[in-house]
Amino acid sequence: MVRQLPPSIDMDQATILVVAACLAAATAALILRRPRNGKPPGGVALLPPVASGVSAIAALGTLVTKGLPAVIHDLHGELGSVFTVSLLGLKKVTFLVGPEVTTHFFKGSESEIRQSDIYKITVPIFGRGVLFDVDLPTRSRQISFLSDAIKPVNLRGHVDSMVREVEDYFGKWGEHGTVDLKQELGLVLMRIANRCLLGEQIGDNMFDEVTHLLHELFENGLHMTSLFFPYLPIPPHRRRDAARAKLGEIFHEAVRARRASGRAENDVLQKLVESRYADGRPVTESEIAGLLIGMIFAGQHTSASAAIWTGACLLSHGDGRHLVAAVEEQKQIIARHGRERVDYDVLREIGILRCCIMEALRMHAPANVIIREANKSFSLQARDGGRYAIPKGHTLVTSPAVNNRLPHIFKDPLVYDPSRFGPGREEDKVGGKFSFTPFSAGRHVCLGEDYAYMQIKVIWSHLLRNFELKIISPFPDEEWEKFIPGPRGKVIVTYKRRPLE
Ligand code: HEM
Repeated sequence: MVRQLPPSIDMDQATILVVAACLAAATAALILRRPRNGKPPGGVALLPPVASGVSAIAALGTLVTKGLPAVIHDLHGELGSVFTVSLLGLKKVTFLVGPEVTTHFFKGSESEIRQSDIYKITVPIFGRGVLFDVDLPTRSRQISFLSDAIKPVNLRGHVDSMVREVEDYFGKWGEHGTVDLKQELGLVLMRIANRCLLGEQIGDNMFDEVTHLLHELFENGLHMTSLFFPYLPIPPHRRRDAARAKLGEIFHEAVRARRASGRAENDVLQKLVESRYADGRPVTESEIAGLLIGMIFAGQHTSASAAIWTGACLLSHGDGRHLVAAVEEQKQIIARHGRERVDYDVLREIGILRCCIMEALRMHAPANVIIREANKSFSLQARDGGRYAIPKGHTLVTSPAVNNRLPHIFKDPLVYDPSRFGPGREEDKVGGKFSFTPFSAGRHVCLGEDYAYMQIKVIWSHLLRNFELKIISPFPDEEWEKFIPGPRGKVIVTYKRRPLE
C-alpha cells in the first residue's frame, strides 16, 4: 500500500459560514449600521457594532485571498474587539477578539455557551452513540474517559513508546539526505498515534491500512456539502462511510481481542476498555471505536501542523540563533542525564525547545477559529470600556490565530521570538488566562495539550541531537483555506547525521 500522509482537513466550516454571511450581505446589499459613537455610554449595554455592507464586501475579498483570520483581524481594526456580522438578517455571528472579552466564551456553562451545532458534522465521522451524537451528561463522561487516558500519570507511560517510534523512524534515515519535513513528521506522528492510542496489534500489523482509512474518513467527511447535508448520498460521503465502516470492523476486532487476551497493555485503547459509566456499564466496542477516532481527529493534524511549523521557524528565523539555543539546550541535557535517558522527567526539563514550539503555535495556530452558540443572553465589557449585550442565539466565534497576535499582549507579534515565553517576560500570562489560546481554554480546553508538547519534544529533541538540518525551500505560506492550516507545499530540508556529545 502506498505510504500516505495523515489526514489533512480541507474545508473550513467557519469559512463557509462567513462566506455565506458576506455573500448574503453583498448580494442583498443590506446596510447594517454600527453605532458611530464607537464607545457605548458606561453602564448601558448596547448591541455590538455590525459590519456594514461595504465592510462585508471588503471582507469577502480578504476571505478569498487571505482567509478568515485575516477578515477577523481587519474587522477588529475597524470595529473593535466585539462585532457582529449578519447573515441576511437570519443569523448573527458575533466575533470576540482578545482576552478581555473571551472569559465568558471560554468559561460559560453549556446552558449559557453551547458548543455549536456545527460540531454535528462529526457524527458520521466519529460514529453513532459518541460525543456529538449523545446527550450532554454522556458526552461529558466520554470526554472524561479520554481525559483520564492521557492524564500525566498515563502520559508518563507513553513516553517510552514515543521515543522508540521516533528512534526507529529516524534510524532509517541515511548518513545524509534531503527530505520533505511535512511528509516525514506527519508519518512519524501517525506511528506514535497508532502505537500509543491504538496499541501494538494495530500499530504493528495494520499501520498502512489504518492510516489510509483515516485519511479517507477525514478528507471525505469534511466535504463542503457535509456541513449542510451530512447524509447526502454523494461520492465523498460514500467513501467516508465505507472508510468508517472498515475502521469500525478493525477497531471492534481489536477491542474483542484485547478483552479476550486478558492482557493489560499500556495504551489508550486499554484505558477505554477499562472505563465504566457511573452505573457500572462498560464502554461498548462501538463507543471505543468512535472515541479513538475522535481522539485521532483532534490530535493528529494539529500536532503535525505544530511540529512542522516548529521546524520551519527554527530553521528559518532569527539568523539561526534560536536553532543554536535549542541545540545548546540538548547538549546540556545530555551532560546532565546522558544520551540514553530520554524519559518523561527529562523531557519536562526541556524549556527552550518548549518555548520554540509555543512560539510556532502562537504564530501559526492549528485551530484557526473556535465556534460556540449563546444559549442565554449575556453582556461583557470590551477593551475600550464599553459594555455590549450579546443576545441569545448569536453564533460566537473567537480566533486563536488573531488573539495570539495582538500587539498589546505580544510585543512585535509578527516576529518569531521564543524568549517572549521565557522567565521575566511570560507574555502568555500578561493578559490573564485567556491571552494564549492555541489549545483553546476554560471548559473545553484541549485535553491533549501535554501529550502534544511531549510528542513534539520527543521528535525535535531527537532531530536536534542527531542531525544537522538546513531548510532549502522558501519559508512556507500558510494553508489559510484549511480548517487546520499547516505550511503550504513541501518543506524541504537537508540532513547530515552528527550525534551530539
Ligand atoms: C498542537 C496540537 C493540538 C492543538 C493545537 C489542539 C487544539 C485544540 C483546541 C483549540 C481544542 C478546542 C476545540 C473547541 O473547543 O472547539 C481542542 C480540543 C480537544 N483536543 Fe486538542 N489540540 C492538539 C492536540 C491534541 C492531542 C494530541 C489530543 C489527544 C491525544 C487532543 C485531544 C483533544 C480533545 C479530546 C479535545 C476536546 C475537548 C473537549 O471538548 O472538552 N488534542 N484541541
